[in-house]
Parts: sequence; structure tokens; C-alpha cells
Amino acid sequence: MSDTDLVLYAAGDACATITVNRPNALNALNAAVLEGLAAAVDRAVADPDVRVIVLRGAGERAFIAGADIADFVGATPPDALAMAARIRRPMDAIVASPKPVVAVIHGFCLGGGLEIALACDIRIAADSAKLGVPEVKLGILPGGGGTVRLTKIAGSSVARQLCMLGEPITAQRAFDLGLLAAVHPEAELDSAADALTGRLAQMPPFALAQMKSSLNMAMHADTDTALQAEIKSFALCFSTEDQQEGAKAFLEKRKPVFRGR
Ligand code: COA
Repeated sequence: MSDTDLVLYAAGDACATITVNRPNALNALNAAVLEGLAAAVDRAVADPDVRVIVLRGAGERAFIAGADIADFVGATPPDALAMAARIRRPMDAIVASPKPVVAVIHGFCLGGGLEIALACDIRIAADSAKLGVPEVKLGILPGGGGTVRLTKIAGSSVARQLCMLGEPITAQRAFDLGLLAAVHPEAELDSAADALTGRLAQMPPFALAQMKSSLNMAMHADTDTALQAEIKSFALCFSTEDQQEGAKAFLEKRKPVFRGR
């Protein structure tokens, strides 16, 4: 399989779908996959026709079962730093993307797979999915943002339990802990994903981008800085036609049509 086949890209109906395509290794993340993933996110961000980005794993068994453990054998601390930098590339691209990124999770979502999912804006999963950070069983910790994002999203107590024991949890449990936005019967996951991305694609893109920036600040900046940034984002929305359209459509009792201007 060539390196480009390791990450599939398809765009249409305002949605770019990026699929990690290494099913024989449960879509484990090696250097080529991570590079392909980052390039695919960059491509979707650059395409003006794309309003929503979806991330998936190929095959029946996994979203992504983590970093490629083969890379860990014989690796040194400098190698580990290089690995961490490689996994940050797609994650940083996802976080910086002004377009919403949705992780559609089935099967195993472990280690770096969960860490990448946690960098996405919205996560939905099949009820049969298994999520976790098993790195402790390999003598390491989740080094792709796992300890930080789990703490921010689900709280310190949950993060400690998941990281220190390394046991996977069910999708329902992950939903109950606030790690997932929704859980669907496996057979309904694709239609639920389509419905969600269809709704996101109709939202005003500039407002979504500003909102994402503000939500990112809420996660990582101090409260006062985040509140100041939110005000600026709010004000900037008033420079768009979509803002006028939203208000007029409400007053005229019709559905707004957001043109991304
Ligand atoms: N890295 C490299 N290869 C992986 C992998 C990973 N993270 N996860 C799965 N694979 C490979 C297996 O080596 C196996 O390859 P093979 O068929 O050439 O032997 C193939 O994917 C299928 O996995 P297998 O372990 O046989 O399936 P299973 O149903 O018995 O177990 C898991 C599934 C997910 C429980 C198991 O593969 C696993 O624990 N994977 C590692 C998860 C992990 O620790 N992730 C964090 C890494 S930091």
C-alpha cells in the first residue's frame, strides 16, 4: 500500500471525509499515517467548498488503535520526542482548523486514536466502540495530549482513572463521562454522522470559526483572556452578511440561508 493510500480523502456536499486506512493494523498511527492525516486536514481547510471535516477509521474493527507500537521497540527519548512531534502535527491542524472536525468512532479507539479524537470538536460513536488510553501497560503515558485533554474534557478524577489503569471503557460510559456527544447503535452510526455533518454544513462558517477559536481559548487560556477574546469574536461576526441574514430570517419567520459571506 502506498503512503497516500494510508489516508483516504473524499469531499462532497460541503463535507471532507478523511479515513485512516490501515485496517490490518487496526489503523495504528505510524509516521506515514500521521503525515498523511495532517496533509488531509490541511487540504480540507484550504478547500473553500468544505465546511465540515469528518475523521474515520477504515475497516470493521477500529477507528484507530493507537500509535504503532512497533515504533516503540528500541526507541530512545529523542525518538520519543520526534514521535510526539509527529502526532501533534495532525492534532494541531485539527485544533487550528476554522472548520468543525467530527470524529466518527467505531470499534477500538485507543491511545493516540483517542487523543486525536479528543482534539476534534465533536465525537460520536457506535455503541459497540471501546475507548481508552492503555499506554500505562506499555510502560509509558499518553504523550499526545491525552493526560491534558482528558483532564480538561472529563475532569481530573476521570483522567487519572483512565490513564493510570489503562482499561478501555464502553461508548455508553464514555458518553456518561462527557467524552462523547452521542452514542448510536452501530448500524445507525453512518446515518447519524451524515445528519450531524449536514446540519453543521448549514451553519454560518464565519461564526463557527470564531466560535471554535473562542471555545479553544476557553479550554486553554485563563478565564479573563478567554472572555476578552470571546467579545472580539462576537463583534467580528457583525462584519458578515450571514449575521444580517440570521437576524432578518428570524424576524421574517423563515429559515436562514447562510452563504459564508
Ligand atoms: N500498533 C501496532 N500494531 C497494532 C496496534 C498498534 N497500536 N494495534 C493493533 N495492531 C495490530 C496487531 O499487531 C495485529 O497485527 P498482526 O495481525 O500483524 O498480528 C492487528 O493489528 C490486529 O490486532 P490484534 O491484537 O491481533 O487484535 P485483537 O482483537 O486480538 O486485539 C486490541 C485488539 C486493540 C485489543 C489489541 O490490538 C491492542 O491492544 N492493541 C494495542 C492498543 C494500544 O496499546 N494502543 C496504544 C498504543 S500507544
